[in-house]
This record gives sequence, structure tokens and C-alpha cells, in this order.
Amino acid sequence: MTSGLRIAALCTLLVCASAVVAYTVLLLSVSVSPCAYSMSRTLLAVTGLDSYIVSCADEASTVELLSSDGGRAKTTATGGPIVTDLLLCGKPNLPPNAFPVNLQCCPPMPASEPVNFKLPDPSEPLRTRRPAHVAGAEYMAKYERAIALMKALPRSDPRSFYQQANIHCAYCTGAYRQVGHPELAVQVHYSWLFFPFHRAYVYFFERIAGKLLGDPGFALPFWSWDVPEGMRMPMAFVNSSSPLYDPLRNTRHAPPKLVDLDFMGAEKNYTDEQQIIHNLRIMYKQMISSAPLASLFLGQPFRAGDSDKPGPGSVEMYPHNTLHVWSGDISRPNTEDMGDNYSAGRDPLFYAHHANVDRIWEAWRHINNNTFHVDFKDPDWLNSSFLFYDEEARLVRITVHDILDIEKLRYAYHGVSLPWLNARPPTTPNVNVKKGNTSPRFIRFPVSLNVAQTIEVRRPHMLRNKPKKRIQGEVLVVEHIVSDGTNIVKFDVFVNAREYEKVKPSGREMAGSFVCLKHNDMDGSLIGKGLNSTMRIALDEILEDLGANEDDSVIVTLVPRHGNVRIGGIKIDYIIGE
Ligand code: C2O
Repeated sequence: MTSGLRIAALCTLLVCASAVVAYTVLLLSVSVSPCAYSMSRTLLAVTGLDSYIVSCADEASTVELLSSDGGRAKTTATGGPIVTDLLLCGKPNLPPNAFPVNLQCCPPMPASEPVNFKLPDPSEPLRTRRPAHVAGAEYMAKYERAIALMKALPRSDPRSFYQQANIHCAYCTGAYRQVGHPELAVQVHYSWLFFPFHRAYVYFFERIAGKLLGDPGFALPFWSWDVPEGMRMPMAFVNSSSPLYDPLRNTRHAPPKLVDLDFMGAEKNYTDEQQIIHNLRIMYKQMISSAPLASLFLGQPFRAGDSDKPGPGSVEMYPHNTLHVWSGDISRPNTEDMGDNYSAGRDPLFYAHHANVDRIWEAWRHINNNTFHVDFKDPDWLNSSFLFYDEEARLVRITVHDILDIEKLRYAYHGVSLPWLNARPPTTPNVNVKKGNTSPRFIRFPVSLNVAQTIEVRRPHMLRNKPKKRIQGEVLVVEHIVSDGTNIVKFDVFVNAREYEKVKPSGREMAGSFVCLKHNDMDGSLIGKGLNSTMRIALDEILEDLGANEDDSVIVTLVPRHGNVRIGGIKIDYIIGE
């Protein structure tokens, strides 16, 4: 083909593509100064040139394609729900030094086909989960007994503690492959599967415990790390002769040490009072500022045929991930047990942690000042399904749709106040970048994040001026976050902070952190690349608080904190309602 013909063909392709794509994120340009390339992102994608390169196409040439809150655009022609199949469970990808070395974490094969989940009888007693710090000795003793009974079952029993712990391993190490796409992994983290999978997991775990105890009303304790009184490891887990004890924990974090929701290895020298304020502000950010919409709170769509880990929701990254790392034994290469996905289920603390994560999902839905706090309606999400053994040791297929109403699942949460609702972070004095005050360096993406990088990202005012109603949120998108998965990754994202060092992790200018546990290669096609994900941070509230609503651009600083990571690009998108 002559180059003229090639361009003509490309343009035809482009026109067709824009016509048929039903929705996508906006193809908006980013301003890095000076422009790296003048080709539009679409053209780069079609030409096969490095699409990581941030383009500087002018706004007039960008294509406006709308998305309701389905998160990112569909990237594959396939789609459909993620479905798990026991026959597609195989060898896990474990990190080096995992133990036992030959760990296989698939569940035992059932005697017959899985049955479809049925809701419990509405006359069953409501299991009211109580916060571990106030549940009382008797309540905690029941959990202790349940764990002892589970540990006493033979390892071949799918209800044994051993098998229960392995469930987590199988769903997060690439042991399960996707039905119809065996080259791709099923992964329940870093996507919209995170909350529903863990809800179902904890649901069956609790019912098995109740069955073993002969107590149909048995409810799990939850570790309410989001309220000041719950910000310590619950005492019941600390007694070394208890079945709730796990020797593979960070010994420095035994009570009375307060949790640090931003933890990444280094201890902060905060007083308890400071730590509490810091934690509450982090909760506010992750639950309110950064989670105005389902895709930002629950995580990005993950459909059949997609590579796993498209992008986590706010709370999954932290405090969920950071608390895993905070709890695990930091002197071990993989921060076992809690600090790595393959081993996390071995610590009885895991189930109390996840009961709280589940409660947080309920809390998010009920924060009533935001009408957008509603779950996805996407059939690919609702029909995604997982397999669990129930209390009768029957293999059950449960869909996301099945687990959306906890009352129908016959459990509830004992009320805990939500003190973080009022903990809107303050701005940091004297760090706000004012126009002309800063000259971000020229950055060519992809960039290895070895040192802090500051980038000016242009806001597409063309859309900002549209009637407010249709715009549901403005998001900063950090794309193609790539690492080999051999280390825990954390980097922080600051907005309009001239001296980010002065900003506390709970300060307003700290827009969010990307936090990812280790992930060995999940996906045969990504050898040596354990992670290829995206981070999205809602900007609306931050820009409002920083008085930057009318600015044309946002100054973003990415600061590496742990692990090696490469960043493909940065842009600003709008999420548009229907
Ligand atoms: Cu499946 Cu707390 O992680």
C-alpha cells in the first residue's frame, strides 16, 4: 500500500470505528509541556504506534463519545460475565518463596454438578455481625470455637479451614482460567468483582461456621478499622493460644498500636490522636471524594475476554490493601499471611477484615448525600458467578445478582457510627500551585516511576461547559500502570501541590494512592508483567477545595513509594450520564 492509500484506509477505519462504538471514555488529550506528538490517540491506536504516548491533539479534533457509569470503555469485542468453572482450575502462580512450595489451591472436585444458589429462607434468624471491639468475650469465643472446628476438619473437607483459606488463593493467583478464554485468568481483585466476590466468600464462611457450631444465628465479628475505637487489631486475635492467632503477623502491630490506613512498610511517628485524624480523613477521601460513582468505588468492568486487573476501586487500594500489608509479617519475603493474596485467607483476621470491607460497601450505598451511590446495572457484572461449597458441602454457583441484598441473605451489621463522614481533609498551607508558579518538565510516556514526576494535565473545557447535569464526574486517569508483580506497588498522586513533601497522606492535595499487592504473572500473554492496570481518581471535590475549579489544567505529581512501576500516560476524562 502506498502511504496515501494507507492513510485513506485508516481514515475510513476511523470513521467506522467512531460510528459503531456505542460508548467509550472520551478521547481527550493531555497537555504535557511541550507536546510529545501531535497525532491523536485514536490514530495512534489504529496505526499500532505506541498508544502509551500521550497525545496533544487539539480539542476540536477529539471525538466525544459518552459513557454512563460503566467505567472505562469496552476494550474487547467479546464481553459477557466472568464465569468460574472448577474444571478450569489449575496451577496457581505463586510468588517466589511461597510455602508450601507445591501448594495447589483448587477446591476438591464435587461428586455432582454445582447447584444454583438459592436465597435462605426468610424465616431464618438474621445474623447480626458485631464489631470485634465491642462484641464481648462470649461472642468472640464463638468465633474462636468455629475456627477451631474448621481447623479440626480433615483437609479434604471443602469446609475445613485449610480449604477455606485456599479459596482466596485460587481466585487470585490465576489458578482459575476464564471460561471460553483459558489463556486469561479469573481474578477477583482490581476490578468490579472485588466487593461481590468477597461478600459471597464471607457469606459461605459464616454459614459453615454456624453449621459447625450448631448455631444458625452465628454471625462473624467485623474489624471496624474505620472508627477510632476499632482502630487496633482486635484483642481476641492476639492471644497466642487462641485459634484466632496467627504467628505470621507484624508483631509491632499488636495492640495498643493503632492501624495506619496509609501504611507501606514505614512506621509513622504519630501520636494516637494524630493517627486517628489521619485515618478518618483517609476514610473520607476513599468513601466520598474518590468514590462518587460505582466504577470509582466498586472498580472497573472486567468481562469475559478481558485481561484481569483493569482497575481497582478506591477502598480496595486503601485502606483494604494497606491493611493487608499492615497485618502481615513484614520480615517475610511475601508479608505472609495477610500481606499476600495467596496466603491471606490463612489468618482468621482476614474474615473479620472482609466483614468490615463488606460493611463499608453497605455504608457507601447509604451515604445519602450522593444520588450516584448505586451499584452497576450492567448484566455482565450481575451475571458474573463464583463457586463455593456451602455448609452442607454442596458446590454452589452464586452470581453477583444473588448477593446484592444482605437482608435477603439474612445478615445485617450492628450499627457503628461513621465518624469519617465529617472528616473532609483540609488543604495544606502554602503548597498550592498558582498559575505560572511551576514549570513541569517535559515527560515522554511511558515513564518509569523511579523519582517523583510532575505533569501538567489539561482539562477539556469544551465539556466542562456542557450542562452540568450530564457530567457525573471528572476523573484523572493514570493509565497502563505496569509492573512485573514481584513487589508490592505503591505510588501517591498529588494535585496542585508545589511541595508535595509538605502534604500529609491525609492532606487535601494528596488525591490518592495506587496500592497493589504482589502479582506474579497471571496471564500467559503477559510474561514478566504481573500488573497492567489503571487508576482513576475523582477530581471534583479536590478541585473545589483547592479553588481550582476554573483552571484550564491540573498539576499532577506522581511519587513512588514502593516497588517499581511504569506509567503509560495520564489524562482527564469525564464520566457522562445518560
Ligand atoms: Cu481478596 Cu482482602 O483480599
